[in-house]
Amino acid sequence: MSNSAKIRTLKSLVGSINFEGRSFLSVNDLTDDQIYGLFDLALQLEPWNRSMIPLATGNVMSTLFFQPSTRTRMSFETAMHRLGGAVISEANPLVTSSAAKEESLSDMLKVVSKYANIIVMRHFDDVEARKAAPFSESPVINGGWGHWEHPTQALLDLYTLYRTYGHIDGLKVCVASADLIEARTGHSMAQGLARLGARVFLASPKAKRIPQEVMDKISARGIKVEEAFDLDQDSFNDLVSDMDMVYLPGCSAPKGPEAEAFKVVMDKYFVRYETLEKVAKDENRTIYVTHTLPRRSGEMDLRIDNSPSQLYFEAIAYSVSIRMALVAAILGV
Ligand code: CP
Repeated sequence: MSNSAKIRTLKSLVGSINFEGRSFLSVNDLTDDQIYGLFDLALQLEPWNRSMIPLATGNVMSTLFFQPSTRTRMSFETAMHRLGGAVISEANPLVTSSAAKEESLSDMLKVVSKYANIIVMRHFDDVEARKAAPFSESPVINGGWGHWEHPTQALLDLYTLYRTYGHIDGLKVCVASADLIEARTGHSMAQGLARLGARVFLASPKAKRIPQEVMDKISARGIKVEEAFDLDQDSFNDLVSDMDMVYLPGCSAPKGPEAEAFKVVMDKYFVRYETLEKVAKDENRTIYVTHTLPRRSGEMDLRIDNSPSQLYFEAIAYSVSIRMALVAAILGV
């Protein structure tokens, strides 16, 4: 196929997703068809994962990250460069932008949207971010807001799962964390998985179960997810051995005097390499493990890195294609 024919195919896929000009704040902002449309587009864009296809030439993306990030900011910026667009970035806006002079977030978004065609923002306060987003004159993408949602992380992890199995429906996935209250990626992923027909198991301490708001949104669609509370490491690994994938969304670990106690709880959600190895040997199947990263020392068995179960570094490559697809769909290029 010639390059111009390929670009016509891509533009037609962009059109069929029908998401031009829209903000992406929650995983629920996309219909199931739009999610699968983005998967199709991302698949077509994978050949340009390490080069460039000029779909977004002349467009500018602004990345405003009020919290630290390696993956989300850099993969969005990479995606925009791979689409031929330009990027203006604030990686530490509380120090280097007029936010340091107490400019409101709504004013900042209004101003930046006069420069940028699309804004990707990470913010520590989801309430403030949600209030300010409508002041932007350009579409806004949630790059992780407070303890609410991180929908593009879920989108890339769903895409990775889709690329691994060819489908999501019917898969058994355990979302596990020592704190599912604060795990914003876990909130987005649990909803995305459930909507796309996966059987979802949520493992956490009962005191740190996933917020009721997330459960309500899932049950409003007539879907049930299962919760397993206060497991010890043995019973957690029994649950793991029945899964197709274990999803470790991580969460912000407390510092100071609570840190040691938290580590004890975190250890209960340690996926044993031996569990994965036994299932591979006895049942001839792979249990995949993904972690949204960054991970803490001791949080994972590093032998998984070099095993067939490892999906977390695979997801990094897929993140560029799916974010290219999302940006292209929003820009309507
Ligand atoms: N997974 C994730 O959001 O990573 P960063 O914090 O590095 O963006």
